[in-house]
Amino acid sequence: MDPPAPTLQKSLYLCSVVGVVLLVQVGGDLTGNVARNGTATQSSDYLDANNNWNASNAIDGNKTSCSSTKKETNPWWRVDLLKKYRVSSISITNRGDGTFSSIDAAEIHIGNSLLNNPKCAIISNITEGMTQTFPCYEMQGQYVSIHIPGEHKSLCLCEVEIYGILNDSLTGNCSSTSSLSHEYHFVDQNKTWTEAQSYCRQKYTDLATIDNTEDMNRLMETGNSGFKTAWIGLKKDKMQGKWQWSDLNNCSFRKWDVEQPDNDYENEECVEIRMKTSFWHDRNCNDKMPFFCHHDQLILIDENKTWWDARSYCRQNHKDLVSVTSEKVQRWVEAKAKKASTPHVWLGLRYSSFYTWPCVRGDPTCYHNWAPGNGTFMDTCDENAVGRFGAVQRDGPHQWVGLPDTEQLNFICSV
Ligand SMILES: *[C@@H]1O[C@H](CO)[C@@H](O)[C@H](O)[C@H]1NC(C)=O
Ligand SMILES: *[C@@H]1O[C@H](CO)[C@@H](O)[C@H](O)[C@H]1NC(C)=O
Ligand SMILES: *[C@@H]1O[C@H](CO)[C@@H](O)[C@H](O)[C@H]1NC(C)=O
Ligand SMILES: *[C@@H]1O[C@H](CO)[C@@H](O)[C@H](O)[C@H]1NC(C)=O
Ligand SMILES: *[C@@H]1O[C@H](CO)[C@@H](O)[C@H](O)[C@H]1NC(C)=O
Ligand SMILES: *[C@@H]1O[C@H](CO)[C@@H](O)[C@H](O)[C@H]1NC(C)=O
Ligand SMILES: *[C@@H]1O[C@H](CO)[C@@H](O)[C@H](O)[C@H]1NC(C)=O
Ligand SMILES: *[C@@H]1O[C@H](CO)[C@@H](O)[C@H](O)[C@H]1NC(C)=O
Ligand SMILES: *[C@@H]1O[C@H](CO)[C@@H](O)[C@H](O)[C@H]1NC(C)=O
Ligand SMILES: *[C@@H]1O[C@H](CO)[C@@H](O)[C@H](O)[C@H]1NC(C)=O
Repeated sequence: MDPPAPTLQKSLYLCSVVGVVLLVQVGGDLTGNVARNGTATQSSDYLDANNNWNASNAIDGNKTSCSSTKKETNPWWRVDLLKKYRVSSISITNRGDGTFSSIDAAEIHIGNSLLNNPKCAIISNITEGMTQTFPCYEMQGQYVSIHIPGEHKSLCLCEVEIYGILNDSLTGNCSSTSSLSHEYHFVDQNKTWTEAQSYCRQKYTDLATIDNTEDMNRLMETGNSGFKTAWIGLKKDKMQGKWQWSDLNNCSFRKWDVEQPDNDYENEECVEIRMKTSFWHDRNCNDKMPFFCHHDQLILIDENKTWWDARSYCRQNHKDLVSVTSEKVQRWVEAKAKKASTPHVWLGLRYSSFYTWPCVRGDPTCYHNWAPGNGTFMDTCDENAVGRFGAVQRDGPHQWVGLPDTEQLNFICSV
């Protein structure tokens, strides 16, 4: 059966909501609904004796009060967020009072001009009374507009929720350690994003992850061979509705160019860096270009050795057994340790009458992550006392425990 044609008569009924469904599970760093603080306007106000269908009704937090335009050509609704936001997602609630008022084919745009902003999504099939969420992947703008192209259309919106953070907050530096920062490699071969990712994972750690301005500068220096554009390790995660680093780093440092990402040619799901400006653009993952890999400076050795043998191995083949001197290095160690085949993984930690354990003497600046009961002062006279060698747990909280040298474990070298 075809739904009844829209009539003005029918819009007399209040919109009502029968339920809420999230069609896309949008995760990540969503903060509050920033639409609530905006000011809304629309192409025309539909008015009737009982209700006021003004534009503000779509951002009042009440899903049973709705905005509606009159029937007209290309009706639109718009909210001014007053500041520039990076929008992660937009949720739209359709009317659900049995009145057919299709908002299918309505387009959602985000940007800084009143007209002609980049498109986040087209509403294709939103059920009556339902809320649907559209990921917008950090599109930037002060204005969010919704319009239905065509003649004799009215635009009715019961709630528009906009989730995002202020533009300025996305460029913040993530912390890194001076001793173990990312080491970048420029690969001058034309590959798709996925091919590039495989190459980096084979030869290095992963496609480049960038934590801060310093990383950015070092990366640009290694690529100093006249490339135009090159892949970095950022890609859309459609399940989570957000950009995700290839190595699962959670850092939200970004260097988007103006009006980027814009999904200009559709399917722009990967990120390139431009040589001239060093700004980032979204781009079709199947395009081929050079790329940046990074190298973590830590390596997990999946061999079972005693602590002393492990240390010799690291010193011969790499630098040393890893010293965990900060939270950041601890996080890298955790990422490596998770892949170990033994329940503990050796670290460069040894209790001796010369060193004791790090932090035992109570230096407050000293980083440690001992499991309860471990890392305490021991009788230094007994060289064979159990638990004189430090390892990190593969599972759970990844704390440090003291174990005897005779344990045969995987280990992590600094390289
Ligand atoms: C809206 O504005 C109020 C008052 O300025 C502020 O406290 C609140 O955090 C704002 N809400 C959002 C989601 O930005
Ligand atoms: C919009 O309509 C609501 C009631 O539906 C009313 O409370 C509000 O004052 C109106 N806002 C404007 C700007 O007219
Ligand atoms: C939501 O809007 C409806 C329709 O305007 C109104 O009847 C209801 O009281 C409102 N709910 C709240 C909590 O304001
Ligand atoms: C629209 O959504 C409904 C309910 O979610 C579904 O039954 C229907 O097949 C969908 N139609 C199209 C054209 O996708
Ligand atoms: C977004 O924030 C960045 C970092 O603060 C700033 O450089 C850029 O100019 C901002 N963009 C706009 C359009 O305001
Ligand atoms: C990030 O670090 C760079 C260099 O260390 C500094 O110039 C810049 O102001 C920092 N940006 C933020 C948002 O803290
Ligand atoms: C990669 O492609 C560009 C443009 O198609 C070409 O100019 C360049 O020589 C190619 N580079 C390599 C290493 O094949
Ligand atoms: C990133 O965040 C998720 C969820 O907050 C967490 O489970 C994951 O361990 C984090 N990844 C890293 C590398 O810190
Ligand atoms: C190391 O030991 C673990 C279990 O203790 C075992 O599963 C793994 O196969 C061993 N690895 C090697 C390379 O022998
Ligand atoms: C060290 O920590 C582990 C794991 O929590 C615990 O099983 C063990 O008993 C601790 N060692 C001592 C000496 O308390």
